[in-house]
Amino acid sequence: VPVLVLNGPNLNLLGLREPEIYGRDTLADIEALCRRTAAEHGLRADLRQSNHEGVLIDAVQEARTAHRGIVINPAGYSHTSVALRDALAAADVPIVEVHLSNIHRREEFRHFSYVSGVADAVICGAGAHGYELALAHLARLVHKT
Ligand code: DQA
Repeated sequence: VPVLVLNGPNLNLLGLREPEIYGRDTLADIEALCRRTAAEHGLRADLRQSNHEGVLIDAVQEARTAHRGIVINPAGYSHTSVALRDALAAADVPIVEVHLSNIHRREEFRHFSYVSGVADAVICGAGAHGYELALAHLARLVHKT
């Protein structure tokens, strides 16, 4: 059973979008990193990205039965989506939230994430390395359960 690595809106533009904030790695680079890191921890990664809130919610609902855990970068929906948080609260699998940038060092509206209150761990500001940290920690949580 794989883990779900879910990337939210605009992360398909990684590498092109504000590289001084989000780095030069593309989504494909990050997904390759996730696949490799998951394998190192004895996990298989199911990698998804969507710009659509409902598609992200459908993926989280699927994870209830199809995945052992979730790494999620909810991107802009972190700061707006009660619905995504509700889906995660219902997921009943370990959840690690990741942000490339340090959201606490940025605009005030990024300081609060609806997702953090239902995540087991939150990693931000470590860039692409944050996904490695997130998967390493998720592996611990998964192998404990
Ligand atoms: C982000 C931070 C969010 O505030 C922003 O809307 C994103 C990316 C990050 O990875 O740093 O799209 O989640």
